[in-house]
Amino acid sequence: MTEKMRFGIIGAGVIAPTHAKAIRSLPDAELVAVADVIPERVEKIVDTYGIHGYTDIQAMLDKEQLDIVTICTPSGMHGEHACMAMRSGRHVVVEKPMEIRRAAMDEMLHVQKEQLVKLAVISQHRFDAANQQVHALVAEQAFGKLVMGNALIPWWRSQGYYDSGAWRGTWQFDGGGVLMNQSIHSIDVLQWLMGKVKSIYAYTDTRVHRMESEDVAVAVLRFANGALGTIAATTGAYPGTGTRIEIYGDKGSASIEADELGYLHLARDDKEAMGDYGGSGKAAKAEKAEASAANNPAALSTNSHALQFADMIRAIREDGTPLVDGVSARHPVEIILAIYESARTGKEVTLS
Ligand SMILES: NC(=O)c1ccc[n+]([C@@H]2O[C@H](COP(=O)([O-])OP(=O)(O)OC[C@H]3O[C@@H](n4cnc5c(N)ncnc54)[C@H](O)[C@@H]3O)[C@@H](O)[C@H]2O)c1
Repeated sequence: MTEKMRFGIIGAGVIAPTHAKAIRSLPDAELVAVADVIPERVEKIVDTYGIHGYTDIQAMLDKEQLDIVTICTPSGMHGEHACMAMRSGRHVVVEKPMEIRRAAMDEMLHVQKEQLVKLAVISQHRFDAANQQVHALVAEQAFGKLVMGNALIPWWRSQGYYDSGAWRGTWQFDGGGVLMNQSIHSIDVLQWLMGKVKSIYAYTDTRVHRMESEDVAVAVLRFANGALGTIAATTGAYPGTGTRIEIYGDKGSASIEADELGYLHLARDDKEAMGDYGGSGKAAKAEKAEASAANNPAALSTNSHALQFADMIRAIREDGTPLVDGVSARHPVEIILAIYESARTGKEVTLS
Protein backbone atom coordinates (compact mmCIF):
# COMPACT_ATOMS: atom_id res chain seq x y z
CA MET A 1 0.00 0.00 0.00
CA THR A 2 1.32 3.42 -0.92
CA GLU A 3 2.03 5.95 1.84
CA LYS A 4 -0.80 8.27 0.85
CA MET A 5 -4.11 6.57 0.09
CA ARG A 6 -4.75 6.99 -3.64
CA PHE A 7 -8.38 7.74 -4.51
CA GLY A 8 -10.34 7.42 -7.75
CA ILE A 9 -13.91 8.69 -8.24
CA ILE A 10 -16.56 7.00 -10.39
CA GLY A 11 -19.28 9.46 -11.48
CA ALA A 12 -18.52 13.15 -12.03
CA GLY A 13 -21.91 14.78 -11.39
CA VAL A 14 -23.28 16.95 -8.57
CA ILE A 15 -21.73 15.16 -5.58
CA ALA A 16 -18.33 14.40 -7.15
CA PRO A 17 -16.72 17.81 -6.34
CA THR A 18 -17.64 17.29 -2.66
CA HIS A 19 -15.69 14.01 -2.78
CA ALA A 20 -12.79 15.66 -4.59
CA LYS A 21 -12.55 18.54 -2.07
CA ALA A 22 -12.90 16.21 0.91
CA ILE A 23 -10.16 13.89 -0.39
CA ARG A 24 -7.92 16.89 -1.12
CA SER A 25 -8.40 18.17 2.45
CA LEU A 26 -6.90 15.03 4.01
CA PRO A 27 -3.12 14.95 4.54
CA ASP A 28 -2.77 11.22 3.92
CA ALA A 29 -5.00 11.05 0.83
CA GLU A 30 -4.35 11.80 -2.81
CA LEU A 31 -6.92 12.24 -5.57
CA VAL A 32 -5.61 10.45 -8.66
CA ALA A 33 -8.36 9.87 -11.24
CA VAL A 34 -12.01 10.22 -12.18
CA ALA A 35 -14.28 8.29 -14.56
CA ASP A 36 -17.65 9.25 -16.06
CA VAL A 37 -19.40 8.37 -19.31
CA ILE A 38 -19.91 12.07 -20.11
CA PRO A 39 -16.56 13.50 -21.41
CA GLU A 40 -17.36 17.15 -20.49
CA ARG A 41 -17.96 16.17 -16.86
CA VAL A 42 -14.67 14.28 -16.76
CA GLU A 43 -12.86 17.26 -18.29
CA LYS A 44 -14.27 19.66 -15.73
CA ILE A 45 -12.93 17.64 -12.79
CA VAL A 46 -9.64 16.93 -14.58
CA ASP A 47 -9.15 20.65 -15.27
CA THR A 48 -10.02 21.65 -11.71
CA TYR A 49 -7.91 19.06 -9.91
CA GLY A 50 -5.17 18.19 -12.41
CA ILE A 51 -5.89 14.45 -12.24
CA HIS A 52 -6.33 11.69 -14.84
CA GLY A 53 -9.72 11.30 -16.51
CA TYR A 54 -11.51 8.34 -18.10
CA THR A 55 -14.79 7.78 -19.90
CA ASP A 56 -14.63 4.07 -19.11
CA ILE A 57 -14.61 2.80 -15.52
CA GLN A 58 -12.75 -0.43 -16.28
CA ALA A 59 -9.98 1.50 -18.07
CA MET A 60 -9.44 3.62 -14.95
CA LEU A 61 -9.40 0.53 -12.72
CA ASP A 62 -6.93 -1.23 -15.08
CA LYS A 63 -4.52 1.66 -15.59
CA GLU A 64 -4.43 3.55 -12.30
CA GLN A 65 -2.76 2.60 -9.06
CA LEU A 66 -5.65 3.17 -6.64
CA ASP A 67 -6.29 2.15 -3.02
CA ILE A 68 -9.84 3.50 -2.61
CA VAL A 69 -12.58 4.11 -5.17
CA THR A 70 -15.59 6.31 -4.35
CA ILE A 71 -18.86 5.68 -6.18
CA CYS A 72 -20.88 8.78 -7.17
CA THR A 73 -23.12 7.31 -9.87
CA PRO A 74 -26.95 7.12 -9.72
CA SER A 75 -28.17 5.04 -6.76
CA GLY A 76 -29.38 2.08 -8.85
CA MET A 77 -25.86 1.66 -10.29
CA HIS A 78 -24.04 1.60 -6.94
CA GLY A 79 -23.96 -2.18 -6.70
CA GLU A 80 -22.62 -2.73 -10.21
CA HIS A 81 -19.90 -0.07 -9.88
CA ALA A 82 -18.95 -0.92 -6.28
CA CYS A 83 -18.57 -4.60 -7.22
CA MET A 84 -16.45 -3.74 -10.29
CA ALA A 85 -14.10 -1.72 -8.08
CA MET A 86 -14.00 -4.31 -5.28
CA ARG A 87 -13.33 -7.10 -7.79
CA SER A 88 -10.31 -5.11 -8.93
CA GLY A 89 -9.05 -5.33 -5.33
CA ARG A 90 -9.89 -1.74 -4.32
CA HIS A 91 -11.54 -0.60 -1.11
CA VAL A 92 -14.81 1.19 -1.85
CA VAL A 93 -16.73 4.14 -0.41
CA VAL A 94 -20.15 4.22 -2.04
CA GLU A 95 -22.54 7.16 -1.87
CA LYS A 96 -25.86 6.75 -0.09
CA PRO A 97 -28.07 4.82 -0.43
CA MET A 98 -25.92 1.67 -0.38
CA GLU A 99 -28.17 0.38 -3.17
CA ILE A 100 -31.88 0.35 -3.92
CA ARG A 101 -32.38 -3.43 -4.27
CA ARG A 102 -31.84 -6.22 -1.75
CA ALA A 103 -30.15 -8.50 -4.29
CA ALA A 104 -27.61 -5.80 -5.15
CA MET A 105 -26.80 -5.23 -1.45
CA ASP A 106 -26.37 -9.01 -1.00
CA GLU A 107 -23.96 -9.05 -3.93
CA MET A 108 -21.96 -6.11 -2.56
CA LEU A 109 -21.54 -7.79 0.83
CA HIS A 110 -20.60 -11.06 -0.86
CA VAL A 111 -17.95 -9.47 -3.10
CA GLN A 112 -16.54 -7.47 -0.20
CA LYS A 113 -16.02 -10.66 1.84
CA GLU A 114 -14.65 -12.57 -1.12
CA GLN A 115 -12.15 -9.84 -2.06
CA LEU A 116 -11.13 -9.06 1.56
CA VAL A 117 -11.56 -5.33 1.00
CA LYS A 118 -13.36 -2.65 3.05
CA LEU A 119 -16.74 -1.26 2.05
CA ALA A 120 -18.10 1.98 3.52
CA VAL A 121 -21.31 3.81 2.65
CA ILE A 122 -21.58 7.59 2.87
CA SER A 123 -23.85 8.64 5.71
CA GLN A 124 -22.00 11.80 6.61
CA HIS A 125 -24.43 12.95 9.29
CA ARG A 126 -23.36 10.13 11.58
CA PHE A 127 -20.14 12.16 11.84
CA ASP A 128 -21.89 15.41 12.88
CA ALA A 129 -20.92 16.51 16.40
CA ALA A 130 -24.53 16.54 17.66
CA ASN A 131 -25.31 13.06 16.37
CA GLN A 132 -22.04 11.67 17.73
CA GLN A 133 -22.82 13.21 21.13
CA VAL A 134 -26.38 11.87 21.31
CA HIS A 135 -25.20 8.45 20.10
CA ALA A 136 -22.58 8.30 22.87
CA LEU A 137 -25.28 9.22 25.42
CA VAL A 138 -27.59 6.50 24.07
CA ALA A 139 -24.72 4.00 24.41
CA GLU A 140 -24.34 5.06 28.07
CA GLN A 141 -28.11 4.54 28.46
CA ALA A 142 -28.34 8.18 29.59
CA PHE A 143 -31.87 8.50 28.15
CA GLY A 144 -33.09 5.54 30.23
CA LYS A 145 -35.69 3.35 28.55
CA LEU A 146 -36.18 4.67 25.02
CA VAL A 147 -39.85 5.35 24.40
CA MET A 148 -40.07 7.26 21.09
CA GLY A 149 -37.87 8.37 18.18
CA ASN A 150 -39.00 10.65 15.34
CA ALA A 151 -37.52 12.02 12.13
CA LEU A 152 -39.13 15.01 10.36
CA ILE A 153 -37.79 15.99 6.93
CA PRO A 154 -39.80 18.93 5.50
CA TRP A 155 -37.66 19.67 2.44
CA TRP A 156 -38.19 21.37 -0.91
CA ARG A 157 -37.02 20.26 -4.34
CA SER A 158 -38.29 22.08 -7.44
CA GLN A 159 -39.63 20.36 -10.54
CA GLY A 160 -36.41 21.58 -12.17
CA TYR A 161 -34.42 19.43 -9.75
CA TYR A 162 -36.36 16.30 -10.75
CA ASP A 163 -36.00 17.20 -14.43
CA SER A 164 -32.23 17.81 -14.11
CA GLY A 165 -31.35 14.13 -14.43
CA ALA A 166 -33.38 11.42 -16.16
CA TRP A 167 -32.75 9.08 -13.20
CA ARG A 168 -34.10 11.40 -10.49
CA GLY A 169 -37.28 10.21 -8.81
CA THR A 170 -37.41 7.00 -10.87
CA TRP A 171 -37.90 3.58 -9.31
CA GLN A 172 -35.25 2.06 -11.53
CA PHE A 173 -32.30 4.30 -10.71
CA ASP A 174 -33.25 6.51 -7.69
CA GLY A 175 -35.09 3.63 -6.04
CA GLY A 176 -37.85 5.99 -4.91
CA GLY A 177 -38.29 9.66 -4.09
CA VAL A 178 -38.01 11.69 -0.90
CA LEU A 179 -37.38 8.61 1.23
CA MET A 180 -34.69 6.79 -0.75
CA ASN A 181 -32.90 9.92 -1.94
CA GLN A 182 -33.22 12.76 0.58
CA SER A 183 -34.46 11.19 3.82
CA ILE A 184 -32.10 8.25 4.04
CA HIS A 185 -29.67 10.52 5.93
CA SER A 186 -32.15 11.15 8.75
CA ILE A 187 -33.55 7.62 8.68
CA ASP A 188 -30.02 6.27 9.06
CA VAL A 189 -29.30 8.57 12.02
CA LEU A 190 -32.68 7.73 13.62
CA GLN A 191 -32.03 3.98 13.49
CA TRP A 192 -28.40 4.48 14.55
CA LEU A 193 -29.65 6.24 17.70
CA MET A 194 -32.83 4.22 18.39
CA GLY A 195 -31.73 0.77 17.18
CA LYS A 196 -33.24 -1.45 14.50
CA VAL A 197 -36.81 -1.07 13.31
CA LYS A 198 -39.01 -4.16 13.71
CA SER A 199 -42.24 -3.18 11.99
CA ILE A 200 -43.72 -0.37 9.89
CA TYR A 201 -47.05 0.98 8.77
CA ALA A 202 -46.94 3.75 6.16
CA TYR A 203 -48.61 6.01 3.64
CA THR A 204 -46.83 7.59 0.67
CA ASP A 205 -48.09 9.90 -2.09
CA THR A 206 -46.97 12.14 -4.94
CA ARG A 207 -48.57 15.53 -4.35
CA VAL A 208 -46.74 18.33 -6.15
CA HIS A 209 -44.15 16.96 -8.59
CA ARG A 210 -44.21 15.18 -11.93
CA MET A 211 -42.23 12.15 -10.87
CA GLU A 212 -42.64 8.38 -10.71
CA SER A 213 -42.10 7.93 -7.00
CA GLU A 214 -43.26 9.63 -3.76
CA ASP A 215 -42.71 13.25 -2.72
CA VAL A 216 -44.42 12.77 0.66
CA ALA A 217 -44.38 9.89 3.13
CA VAL A 218 -45.46 9.24 6.70
CA ALA A 219 -44.54 6.05 8.56
CA VAL A 220 -45.25 4.70 12.02
CA LEU A 221 -42.48 2.55 13.45
CA ARG A 222 -42.00 0.01 16.17
CA PHE A 223 -38.33 -0.41 17.05
CA ALA A 224 -36.88 -3.79 18.05
CA ASN A 225 -36.39 -2.44 21.61
CA GLY A 226 -40.14 -1.78 21.88
CA ALA A 227 -40.04 2.01 21.41
CA LEU A 228 -42.38 3.63 18.89
CA GLY A 229 -41.55 6.31 16.34
CA THR A 230 -42.43 8.18 13.19
CA ILE A 231 -40.88 9.30 9.94
CA ALA A 232 -42.52 12.22 8.11
CA ALA A 233 -40.83 13.38 4.94
CA THR A 234 -41.52 15.50 1.88
CA THR A 235 -39.76 17.40 -0.88
CA GLY A 236 -42.95 19.42 -1.42
CA ALA A 237 -42.61 21.82 1.54
CA TYR A 238 -41.53 25.16 0.09
CA PRO A 239 -39.07 26.70 0.95
CA GLY A 240 -37.76 23.68 2.87
CA THR A 241 -36.77 23.78 6.50
CA GLY A 242 -34.21 21.82 8.47
CA THR A 243 -34.64 18.24 9.54
CA ARG A 244 -35.49 17.37 13.11
CA ILE A 245 -34.62 14.13 14.84
CA GLU A 246 -36.05 13.52 18.31
CA ILE A 247 -35.11 10.91 20.89
CA TYR A 248 -37.19 10.43 24.02
CA GLY A 249 -36.62 8.18 27.03
CA ASP A 250 -37.78 8.05 30.64
CA LYS A 251 -34.53 9.64 31.78
CA GLY A 252 -33.93 12.21 29.06
CA SER A 253 -34.84 13.86 25.76
CA ALA A 254 -32.85 15.26 22.86
CA SER A 255 -33.59 16.90 19.55
CA ILE A 256 -31.20 17.45 16.68
CA GLU A 257 -32.39 20.32 14.52
CA ALA A 258 -30.77 21.02 11.15
CA ASP A 259 -27.84 18.80 12.21
CA GLU A 260 -27.17 20.73 15.44
CA LEU A 261 -28.11 19.90 18.99
CA GLY A 262 -31.37 21.78 19.60
CA TYR A 263 -32.33 20.38 22.98
CA LEU A 264 -30.81 18.04 25.50
CA HIS A 265 -32.06 17.32 28.96
CA LEU A 266 -30.98 14.35 31.07
CA ALA A 267 -32.40 13.44 34.47
CA ARG A 268 -28.90 12.70 35.69
CA ASP A 269 -27.99 16.39 35.32
CA ASP A 270 -30.99 17.69 37.30
CA LYS A 271 -30.04 19.40 40.54
CA GLU A 272 -33.47 18.66 41.95
CA ALA A 273 -36.30 16.37 40.88
CA MET A 274 -38.62 17.78 38.18
CA GLY A 275 -41.84 16.79 39.93
CA ASP A 276 -44.83 14.99 38.49
CA TYR A 277 -45.29 17.28 35.49
CA GLY A 278 -41.67 17.48 34.29
CA GLY A 279 -39.98 20.56 32.84
CA SER A 280 -41.60 23.60 31.20
CA GLY A 281 -41.06 24.91 27.68
CA LYS A 282 -39.20 27.87 29.19
CA ALA A 283 -36.61 25.62 30.76
CA ALA A 284 -36.22 23.84 27.44
CA LYS A 285 -35.39 27.08 25.63
CA ALA A 286 -32.73 28.07 28.15
CA GLU A 287 -31.10 24.69 27.79
CA LYS A 288 -31.14 24.91 24.04
CA ALA A 289 -28.91 27.98 24.15
CA GLU A 290 -26.55 26.31 26.61
CA ALA A 291 -26.39 23.10 24.65
CA SER A 292 -25.62 24.68 21.31
CA ALA A 293 -22.84 26.85 22.75
CA ALA A 294 -21.30 23.99 24.63
CA ASN A 295 -21.57 21.25 22.04
CA ASN A 296 -20.84 22.77 18.68
CA PRO A 297 -17.08 23.09 18.38
CA ALA A 298 -16.11 24.72 15.09
CA ALA A 299 -13.50 22.03 14.45
CA LEU A 300 -16.19 19.41 14.09
CA SER A 301 -18.40 21.41 11.77
CA THR A 302 -16.03 20.86 8.84
CA ASN A 303 -16.77 18.67 5.86
CA SER A 304 -18.41 15.49 7.10
CA HIS A 305 -17.45 13.64 3.91
CA ALA A 306 -13.80 14.26 4.85
CA LEU A 307 -14.43 12.80 8.32
CA GLN A 308 -15.95 9.75 6.71
CA PHE A 309 -13.06 9.29 4.27
CA ALA A 310 -10.63 9.68 7.20
CA ASP A 311 -12.60 6.98 9.03
CA MET A 312 -12.21 4.68 6.00
CA ILE A 313 -8.46 5.32 5.88
CA ARG A 314 -8.24 4.52 9.61
CA ALA A 315 -10.19 1.28 9.06
CA ILE A 316 -7.83 0.23 6.26
CA ARG A 317 -4.65 1.10 8.15
CA GLU A 318 -5.83 -0.63 11.37
CA ASP A 319 -7.59 -3.45 9.52
CA GLY A 320 -10.72 -2.41 11.40
CA THR A 321 -14.30 -1.66 10.37
CA PRO A 322 -15.52 1.67 8.99
CA LEU A 323 -18.25 3.32 11.13
CA VAL A 324 -20.79 2.96 8.30
CA ASP A 325 -19.90 -0.40 6.78
CA GLY A 326 -22.07 -2.34 4.34
CA VAL A 327 -23.88 -4.32 7.04
CA SER A 328 -24.75 -1.17 8.97
CA ALA A 329 -25.81 0.80 5.86
CA ARG A 330 -28.20 -1.92 4.74
CA HIS A 331 -30.79 -1.42 7.51
CA PRO A 332 -31.91 2.13 6.53
CA VAL A 333 -32.52 0.85 2.99
CA GLU A 334 -34.52 -2.08 4.43
CA ILE A 335 -36.62 0.44 6.43
CA ILE A 336 -37.38 2.40 3.27
CA LEU A 337 -38.22 -0.73 1.25
CA ALA A 338 -40.59 -1.75 4.06
CA ILE A 339 -42.26 1.69 3.99
CA TYR A 340 -42.84 1.29 0.23
CA GLU A 341 -44.25 -2.19 0.74
CA SER A 342 -46.61 -1.06 3.50
CA ALA A 343 -47.82 1.91 1.46
CA ARG A 344 -48.40 -0.38 -1.53
CA THR A 345 -50.16 -3.20 0.32
CA GLY A 346 -51.90 -1.19 3.06
CA LYS A 347 -50.49 -3.64 5.59
CA GLU A 348 -48.01 -3.53 8.44
CA VAL A 349 -44.62 -4.87 7.30
CA THR A 350 -42.28 -6.75 9.63
CA LEU A 351 -38.55 -6.47 9.00
CA SER A 352 -36.46 -9.63 9.34
N1 LIG B 1 -24.21 12.29 0.57
C1 LIG B 1 -24.92 13.27 0.05
O1 LIG B 1 -25.26 14.24 0.74
C2 LIG B 1 -25.33 13.21 -1.40
C3 LIG B 1 -25.71 14.37 -2.08
C4 LIG B 1 -26.05 14.27 -3.43
C5 LIG B 1 -26.04 13.03 -4.06
N2 LIG B 1 -25.70 11.91 -3.36
C6 LIG B 1 -25.71 10.57 -4.00
O2 LIG B 1 -24.68 10.56 -5.00
C7 LIG B 1 -25.09 9.79 -6.14
C8 LIG B 1 -24.98 10.66 -7.40
O3 LIG B 1 -25.84 11.77 -7.25
P1 LIG B 1 -25.59 13.11 -8.12
O4 LIG B 1 -26.60 14.08 -7.64
O5 LIG B 1 -24.13 13.45 -8.12
O6 LIG B 1 -26.02 12.56 -9.56
P2 LIG B 1 -25.58 13.13 -11.01
O7 LIG B 1 -26.59 12.65 -11.96
O8 LIG B 1 -25.32 14.59 -10.92
O9 LIG B 1 -24.19 12.39 -11.25
C9 LIG B 1 -24.09 11.01 -11.56
C10 LIG B 1 -22.98 10.82 -12.58
O10 LIG B 1 -22.79 9.43 -12.82
C11 LIG B 1 -22.44 9.31 -14.20
N3 LIG B 1 -22.63 7.93 -14.70
C12 LIG B 1 -23.79 7.32 -15.00
N4 LIG B 1 -23.53 6.08 -15.47
C13 LIG B 1 -22.19 5.93 -15.46
C14 LIG B 1 -21.32 4.85 -15.83
N5 LIG B 1 -21.78 3.69 -16.28
N6 LIG B 1 -19.98 5.04 -15.68
C15 LIG B 1 -19.49 6.21 -15.22
N7 LIG B 1 -20.28 7.27 -14.86
C16 LIG B 1 -21.60 7.11 -14.97
C17 LIG B 1 -23.35 10.31 -14.89
O11 LIG B 1 -22.89 10.63 -16.19
C18 LIG B 1 -23.31 11.48 -13.93
O12 LIG B 1 -22.32 12.42 -14.27
C19 LIG B 1 -26.54 9.34 -5.85
O13 LIG B 1 -26.53 8.02 -5.38
C20 LIG B 1 -27.01 10.27 -4.75
O14 LIG B 1 -27.95 9.67 -3.87
C21 LIG B 1 -25.33 11.99 -2.06
